[in-house]
Amino acid sequence: MSAVDVRTLPWSWYTDPAVLDLERERIFRRSWQYVGHLGDVPEPGSFAASFVADVPIVVVRDKEDELRAFLNVCRHRGSLVCEGAGRRETLQCPYHAWTYGLDGRLITAPRGNKEGGIPKEELGLVPLRLETWGPLLFVNPDADAEPLDVHLDGIPELVADAGIDLDALRFLQRSESELACNWKISAENFLECYHCPTAHPGFSAVMNVSPDAYLLEASASRMTQHGPPRAEPRGAYDPTGEVERGQFHLLFPGTVINVMPGRPNVSIGPIVPRGIEKTYRFIDYFVAQDAAEAWIDESLAFDAQVGAEDRVLIERVQAGVRAGVIDEGRLLPESEKLIAHFQSLVVEALA
Ligand code: FES
Ligand SMILES: [Fe+2]
Repeated sequence: MSAVDVRTLPWSWYTDPAVLDLERERIFRRSWQYVGHLGDVPEPGSFAASFVADVPIVVVRDKEDELRAFLNVCRHRGSLVCEGAGRRETLQCPYHAWTYGLDGRLITAPRGNKEGGIPKEELGLVPLRLETWGPLLFVNPDADAEPLDVHLDGIPELVADAGIDLDALRFLQRSESELACNWKISAENFLECYHCPTAHPGFSAVMNVSPDAYLLEASASRMTQHGPPRAEPRGAYDPTGEVERGQFHLLFPGTVINVMPGRPNVSIGPIVPRGIEKTYRFIDYFVAQDAAEAWIDESLAFDAQVGAEDRVLIERVQAGVRAGVIDEGRLLPESEKLIAHFQSLVVEALA
């Protein structure tokens, strides 16, 4: 076998809806996903509706100040119960007004008593696993999943070692995007910087993207890139500050966690399939309380530039693999080893 004979996944896996059905069932419904942060549910009675892949969920802070997550699906005829975020005394379904407590119990169902009674104790909102890393909230639809901190696989330690106290950061903003590609193409693009010198001139002027400096590390559920800034960075972003090196993690299947060199910062968000060739992403940005506004603007613009460049790359890949004439591609054994790891996790999950 020659060195570059590592095969990609079959390209049909990026266009075949049956593969996505299987991925939803075997990967996304069993995985931890970032859904938001404590600021989304600041006080008792706060709720925030969200999704884990295609599973509608709602995070609630109940009257006792306890955080809970539920499947956001009414036990009557299946309507979504909550939309958006806000504050409520109860969770009332907008369809026929079945009303649930903030602890998920079904409290009332109009006409239920007149029509023979409803077994309320059986028909509460379905609770889901909710666990936190500092202010960051993760939900998993699988009741038997491994604990979040096992799945995080050392990322909290790496972030802390970089000098970042997550609890001390402030939330800046959420940026959303939709991409015309399969979710795996977006993830795989994130997992290598082989394309950086060609496709991200601005990023590569600030960061040292040479293979000797830019280190790749895969463990069970985590794929990590360590990226130092150049000795003499030039360009649109100032990477000087307490955080010396960048960290770019993908937590399987699709939660991206970034730390840029510079002032303390974290950005995090999921890569979510919305269709076989449609991907939704959001990223929540957090920075040091005392970070200067000018630096914040610079760093958001820097990230947006990389994101815009990646969108073009990713959508071109989707257009190519969709052609269906070639069965598969090749991976470089070193520069693309995180993609190989990611693909092995996909294969293992679907087997
Ligand atoms: S579907 Fe929710 S009350 Fe009928
Ligand atoms: Fe990129």
